[in-house]
Amino acid sequence: MQIRFRQVIFWNQKNTPFEKQALNRITLDIPAGQFVAVMGHAGSGKTTLTQMINGLVVPSEGEVWVGNDRITNKRKDMNRLRVSIGYAFQYPEHQLLADTVYQDIAFSLRRLNLDEEEIRCKVEIVMNLVGLPFEQYKDRSPFQLSRGQMRRVALAGILASDPNMLILDEPTSGLDPLGRYEVLSLIKTLQLKQGMTTVLITHRLEEALEYADRIIVMKKGAVFLDLTPEEVRERLPELIEAGLASTPMLRLIQEIEQRIPGSIPGHIVEENELISHLIKWMRLEK
Ligand SMILES: Nc1ncnc2c1ncn2[C@@H]1O[C@H](COP(=O)(O)OP(=O)(O)OP(=O)(O)O)[C@@H](O)[C@H]1O
Ligand SMILES: [Mg+2]
Repeated sequence: MQIRFRQVIFWNQKNTPFEKQALNRITLDIPAGQFVAVMGHAGSGKTTLTQMINGLVVPSEGEVWVGNDRITNKRKDMNRLRVSIGYAFQYPEHQLLADTVYQDIAFSLRRLNLDEEEIRCKVEIVMNLVGLPFEQYKDRSPFQLSRGQMRRVALAGILASDPNMLILDEPTSGLDPLGRYEVLSLIKTLQLKQGMTTVLITHRLEEALEYADRIIVMKKGAVFLDLTPEEVRERLPELIEAGLASTPMLRLIQEIEQRIPGSIPGHIVEENELISHLIKWMRLEK
């Protein structure tokens, strides 16, 4: 599904002494099937932007369209839209609600009128998919799991109802490097296989460079940069100005470029690309 923002403004706690503008005239098109990383300082508006996509917040001014649906505060329409959007909250522990992992994942399926056998079958598939073996975890309390495991339960709950769009608010924060890799490569595989539009909020530039087709950097509620990963090296000073940290890979490239100018083509930003380029280069030098 395609996402369209037109001149969108959002005020938090409008008409109160705490009134604060969270989104400032956002116009944005995300085509169906694209994998977009949303980055930016704490408080820049990332969560507000993505919550608008499934109608958790409604524009104060302007319009947001998801497929053929306009985001409004009509609850019935928004509930229908939400069935097709998988939304992983910034703090997945807030999303868990049932006594067992099984019931938690089954929860989103209950509204689909499936019989218990179909539900069990779907739950088993998604639990195995996210790396929680069914027999071992189905009866555990989600609240007695590690943060990484809770995140997998939340992700399994989202995937169980076959969404055609995924929105993930910092799905890897608090995970160790292996956990981050596992969660993101799973998401990337699903996105490629099923052509799901995917919006990933992340503070890690390396994640955006490796997995996304496009990087949107927010600053003070507005879109500050809208780039492809290949454009990141030339715009690095602006990214750093928006509060993002460079990556070890970009620093290594910068170091080589300083010593041997022109040695690494501008579009190379990621480990595998750099390795292939260096190997080719070394073979030519021999
Ligand atoms: N319930 C609220 N009441 C008032 N202001 C709020 C509320 N929620 C968010 N804000 C403000 O709206 C702005 C955008 O917040 P948002 O949560 O979208 O930022 P974010 O980029 O997701 O930040 P983070 O990286 O910390 O998750 C911030 O200035 C924040 O202080
Ligand atoms: Mg946030």
